Amino acid sequence: MPSGTSSCFIFGDSFQLYPMQNRLSARWIPSFLATILTTSLVYAQQTVIPIETEQNALVLQTDASKRLGISYFGTRLQQPGEYALVGRESRQKDENSGISNSAYTPSGSWNLFEPAIRVTHADGNTSLELQYQSHQTQKVDENVTLTTVLLKDPAYAVEVSLYYKTYRRENVVEQWSTIRNKEKGTLTLNKYASANLYFTGQSFHLTHYHGGWAHEMNPETTELKAGILTLDSKLGTRANLFQPPSFMLSFDEIATEETGKVLLGTLGWSGNFRIDFENDTYNNLRLIAGINPHASEYPLASGQEFQTPSFIYTFSDHGKGEASRNLHRWARKYRILDGEGSRLTLLNNWEATYFDFDEQKLTGLFADGKKLGVDLFLLDDGWFGNKYPRNGDNAGLGDWKENVKKLPHGIGYLVKEAQKAGVKFGIWIEPEMVNPKSELYEKHPDWVIKQPERPEHYFRNQLVLDLSNPKVQDFVFGVLDDLFTKNPDLAFIKWDCNAVIYNAHSEYLKNSKQADSRLYVDYVKGLYKVLERVRAKYPKVPMMLCSGGGGRVDYEALKYFTEFWPSDNTDPLERVFMQWEYSYFFPTIAHCDHVTDWGKQPLKFRTDVAMMGKLGYDIVVSKLDEKELEFSKQSVETYKKISDLVWHGDLYRLANPRENDYASLQFVNEKKSRSVWFTYMVSSRYGVGTGRSVLLKGLDPAKKYAIKELNLYPGTKSAITSDAVYTGDYLMRVGFNPVANGNRTSVIIELTEVN
Ligand code: GLA
Repeated sequence: MPSGTSSCFIFGDSFQLYPMQNRLSARWIPSFLATILTTSLVYAQQTVIPIETEQNALVLQTDASKRLGISYFGTRLQQPGEYALVGRESRQKDENSGISNSAYTPSGSWNLFEPAIRVTHADGNTSLELQYQSHQTQKVDENVTLTTVLLKDPAYAVEVSLYYKTYRRENVVEQWSTIRNKEKGTLTLNKYASANLYFTGQSFHLTHYHGGWAHEMNPETTELKAGILTLDSKLGTRANLFQPPSFMLSFDEIATEETGKVLLGTLGWSGNFRIDFENDTYNNLRLIAGINPHASEYPLASGQEFQTPSFIYTFSDHGKGEASRNLHRWARKYRILDGEGSRLTLLNNWEATYFDFDEQKLTGLFADGKKLGVDLFLLDDGWFGNKYPRNGDNAGLGDWKENVKKLPHGIGYLVKEAQKAGVKFGIWIEPEMVNPKSELYEKHPDWVIKQPERPEHYFRNQLVLDLSNPKVQDFVFGVLDDLFTKNPDLAFIKWDCNAVIYNAHSEYLKNSKQADSRLYVDYVKGLYKVLERVRAKYPKVPMMLCSGGGGRVDYEALKYFTEFWPSDNTDPLERVFMQWEYSYFFPTIAHCDHVTDWGKQPLKFRTDVAMMGKLGYDIVVSKLDEKELEFSKQSVETYKKISDLVWHGDLYRLANPRENDYASLQFVNEKKSRSVWFTYMVSSRYGVGTGRSVLLKGLDPAKKYAIKELNLYPGTKSAITSDAVYTGDYLMRVGFNPVANGNRTSVIIELTEVN
């Protein structure tokens, strides 16, 4: 019985598999008795733990020394009894090869590979061995199962529990571990990974990402040869900027949208991470993912335990498209706050005014928002600070009181005025940060992360507050609580985080064990404590997770946020590429895509690109000419009609902008009765365009669809032939030409089932 289908706890000790006996009928036993006896003696000592989803399996198996290894990873086998046989296929000879499949590799004993865990015991000893004790499988509901495996060191009182939470229909596994110190003194955690996986294959191809401010999510695909490839980040306040903790791993050949074996993985941790891929001479690939151990030794007092963040992954043997749709379904249903709900369209004033605004200007913008037809006006940076007014990015951060010159009647007045104009009101904050030129800095220098003996080093003229300190946590919570208490109608928060941690030192932690090295971890834990409090009191208010460079997106933070800001770069041409890559890991309901003045593309292109995510505007509406305004109003209306598809539909990527002159992608609803299809030119070379049809995907071959172009610019006519009705079969085999070209650089088409 596979543990994934049990309806109660199964204790490992009572779950021994005897595969040879299982497979052979009684009739055969006499002639094979000798073989069976020998084989079953070996297998009788082994415990096999299949962790299955609808399509996949990860199988854990103990060896004769009670070490836990991974014997199988991939598409699930039809006969679970055969999982126990897989390990026998390996004929690798050297001393270390048989143990490279460890499910959680300890350090300082038999292991010669990169460890998942490294500790220093209370007595200073640095060795660790982990032996299987028991496991249990708990069915959380009809779709979710949690398997827990307990490992213990036979010599020292240290325990590790490995957790594997499976989401059966979505084929997603969430994996984490807990380390328990049962020694008398303090245990130091030197390394404490969330997940340790093991794969075999002919070859491995890793797609990972690099970037910087305004050029995030650039993919790089590389074959993993022998050695270690590490993805990591040491930014402190967030994961992304130079490298996000998200990747795709293809097995045997590079997966396409439709074909190939591929794992999509990402770490749910809003701080320093490290993901190692270690390949040996036999092509045994080991993956170790977790918090970055760099400068992060963590003390664990006697009796305490440490829970690592989750590593989240999905595997498909039908390519990246299916894998990402699985991840999206999981994220919407189980992870992103209000992931299956709706979102607010908005007008933001950042690029329209920067710091230069007052009440009069803002109330004018509320009216503009109403004119456009958006749901909400979002007041950005610059509304606070009195002794040090926030008129630029060099002062005022930390002083969260309305600037009396700009806003003499306060936020409350603005909320009311916005409502009078017919839009909701939202506000920008960056509560984890401080400018040295601020009253907060003057009052609480000990709340700031900095090295007392070194000059301050700034990122955007600011420093980071020490969230390991409960008083700072209270302060940050208080910023939001104060805003909401005074303005209960506040409808949206943009929570920004622009600086990274330099000079990591905490005045608060300075007298504790591993004072500075625990700061990176305690910062993120402190952040989560604040977010827990915010959500306990204000469970529903939509919040955008923003970070000027690199976004700040990961699946732990998204428990508290409804959406994220992918990049400050809103040039739509750049965004086609960036949004494409983000879309592998995060569903589009969470992508904040705004129409701005970045780039040289026409307004229609800018708008159509923002419409493939959560639509917002950051433009001076009053500067739009008549046609532009008419078009924008119409776009907001059109968006409201298709947003259900963009937010909740299945995403199919049809043409990759890196391989074509255009990008094309499509969202299909669950019933396959409606679809919206976006095509964007990414080349402006002579004569380029969709010369041929584009093959659609995800439709029902038997259904018939009417085709209609949406969001035409006023005064233009559609170039597509929409007089016929097509079967899904035709559209997916022959395709349809959206007629994108130099004159029609973006095309949105709606497909609707007709009976
Ligand atoms: C960051 C954000 C921007 C804007 C500014 C305000 O850069 O990404 O959208 O809010 O901060 O200072």
